[in-house]
Amino acid sequence: MSDRDIEVLSKAPLFQALDDAGAKALRQHVSEVRLARGQSLFHEGDTGDRLYVVLDGKIKLTRMAPDGRENLLSVLGPGEMFGELSLFDPRPRTAGAIAVTECRLAGLGHDELRPFLTAHPEVGIALLQALSERLRRTNEVMADLVFTDVPGRVAKALLDLAERFGQPTDNGLHVHHDLTQEELAQLVGASRETVNKALADFAARGWLRIEARAVVILDIERLRKRSK
Ligand code: CMP
Repeated sequence: MSDRDIEVLSKAPLFQALDDAGAKALRQHVSEVRLARGQSLFHEGDTGDRLYVVLDGKIKLTRMAPDGRENLLSVLGPGEMFGELSLFDPRPRTAGAIAVTECRLAGLGHDELRPFLTAHPEVGIALLQALSERLRRTNEVMADLVFTDVPGRVAKALLDLAERFGQPTDNGLHVHHDLTQEELAQLVGASRETVNKALADFAARGWLRIEARAVVILDIERLRKRSK
C-alpha cells in the first residue's frame, strides 16, 4: 500500500480513531479492489460481508424504484466509507454501489472487523459518529425534498459536491463531479429537464459556468443563499 493510500485511509472514520500500531494492524486485513468506470461493486439486496473505503475515484450509491427509476443517495470520494450497515445489521445491502470513474477501494471483511471493534471500542465510537452524521444528512435531504424547490436543491447538491471535490482556481471553484446530467437529476430527486433549467438559470445569472461533468462556481455566496 502506497504512502498516499495510507494517508487517505487514515481519514476514514474507522482508522481516524486508531493510533499508528492499531492502524497498521487493521491495514493487514485490507484488500484492494479496482473498478472500471460504470462497473458495479454490489447491488441493492445483495448479501454484504465487506465494507469499503474509497482510495481513489468516485463511487455512487443508488436505489432503484420498482418502476426502474434510480435515486442517487450519495457520491463518495477518497477517504469516504460505505458498506458498513450490513456489518451492524446483517441484512441485504440497502443500496447498490457503482463506480462513477475508474476507482480503487480498500475492502475490509466484516468478519475480520468484528473482533477488532471489540478490542478497540474507540473505533466503534468513530463508526457511530459517522453513522450519526449520515442520519443528520439524510434527515436534511428528506426535509429539502418536502420544503425546498428544485433550484434550491440543485444549489445545495452543488455546494455539497464542491465541499468534497472542489478545487479552487483563479477562475472560480472548479467542481469536477463526473456526473452526467441524468445522474445529477437523480441526486437532486427531480427530472433532468427541471435540473437543467435550474443550472441554466444559475449560469445566466453568472453564479456558475457549466462544463462537461463539472461546474465552475463563480459566486458561492449567491449559490449558498439560493440553497436556503
Ligand atoms: P450497506 O447497506 O452494507 O450497503 C450499501 C451502503 O450504502 C450502506 O451499507 C451504507 O454504507 C451506504 N448508504 C446507505 N444509505 C445511505 C445514505 N442515505 N447516505 C449515504 N450512504 C448510504
